[in-house]
Amino acid sequence: MALYSDKVMDHFRNPRNVGIIENADGVGEVGNAKCGDIMKMYLKIEDDIVKDVKFETFGCGSAIASSSMATELIKGQPVSEVKNLTNKAVAEALDGLPDYKMHCSVLAEEAIQAALEDYQERIRKGK
Ligand code: FES
Repeated sequence: MALYSDKVMDHFRNPRNVGIIENADGVGEVGNAKCGDIMKMYLKIEDDIVKDVKFETFGCGSAIASSSMATELIKGQPVSEVKNLTNKAVAEALDGLPDYKMHCSVLAEEAIQAALEDYQERIRKGK
C-alpha cells in the first residue's frame, strides 16, 4: 500500500485555500518545535459562520494536505461546529496519515483553534 492516500497527494499537489485574508476576523499561528513546521490560518466570520478561510503552511507535505483539508471541512460551517474539529477528523477526511505524520494534522487543529480564540478575543475586546 502506498504510504500516502490519493487524497493526501491531491491536497498536497493542489492545496485548496492557500493564501492570506486581509482584515481577517481571526488569525492563528502555531508551530511544531520538533520538526520546525509552521501553520497560519485566517478566518473570515460573518453571523457566526466561517465564510472564508485561508492558510499559509511552511511545512511538510502532510502538513500542507492537512491544512488544505481542514479549510475545506470548516468553510461554511458555524463556529460552534468548527470548535469541535479534531485532528482525527482531518486525518480521516484524508483517508488516513501514517502514524508518524499524525502530528501534522494536529497542527491544523491547533491553528484553527488558535484562529477561533483570536476571533473570540477580538469580540471580547469589542473590535
Ligand atoms: Fe512536522 Fe509534518 S513533519 S508538520
